[in-house]
Amino acid sequence: INPRIITIDGPAGAGKSTLAKEISKRFGYTHLDSGAIYRAIGFASKEMGIDLNNEIEVLEIAKKLKIELKGSRVFVNGKDVTEEIRTPEGGVLASQVAQHREVREVVVKILRNLAQGKKVVIDGRDAGTYIFPEAQLKIYLTASPEERAKRRYRELVEKGFKVSYEQVLKEVVERDKKDKSRKFAPLTVPKGAVIIDSTGKSLEQVLNEVKKLIDP
Ligand code: C5P
Repeated sequence: INPRIITIDGPAGAGKSTLAKEISKRFGYTHLDSGAIYRAIGFASKEMGIDLNNEIEVLEIAKKLKIELKGSRVFVNGKDVTEEIRTPEGGVLASQVAQHREVREVVVKILRNLAQGKKVVIDGRDAGTYIFPEAQLKIYLTASPEERAKRRYRELVEKGFKVSYEQVLKEVVERDKKDKSRKFAPLTVPKGAVIIDSTGKSLEQVLNEVKKLIDP
């Protein structure tokens, strides 16, 4: 079907960004990591010492920041923050600023601009429901909470973080709840989406399923 826009939504730790990166490499799509933008705003807000529950202040920061996505790297005001924002703390900060409707609207504008005239694969929570409801291919990628926590845990340990599996599982469950119960643009299965459950599947297996969808 040669879609111009592919959206990948789903809960934390389902493997969305890994899948998006592979699709980007193998099929020549630009990868837009929407979570990275929320993470960048969350981090910048914290650095400036503002209250993340204060929508007006977070909004002001979101509007001022120069956020760039280059390949899979994220730059804020010219500084590479890729590793810094991909921490458990970054996830918590992101989901706090992502609660605010006007902040979400700023992020959506950034993403729609970035996608103009390009073939893009975007991963997030509202990519297929809200950012690009017109996308030709929508994927909802999920896995059991335990499997997702296990993957996150391994990833974090590899990066040298001292975390426990129980703590990671708790955070995964909490973040799911927050993302699904948010008033504005919550995490749901987009209309027309193909649901892929990656529990017990390798990246290669999931990619094969996606390949059949892109190029049947
Ligand atoms: O995908 P990632 O783990 O980087 O996302 C971090 C957080 O940012 C999510 O838990 C969610 O609260 C928020 N987010 C969102 N909408 C998106 C992408 C991320 O609300 N499209």
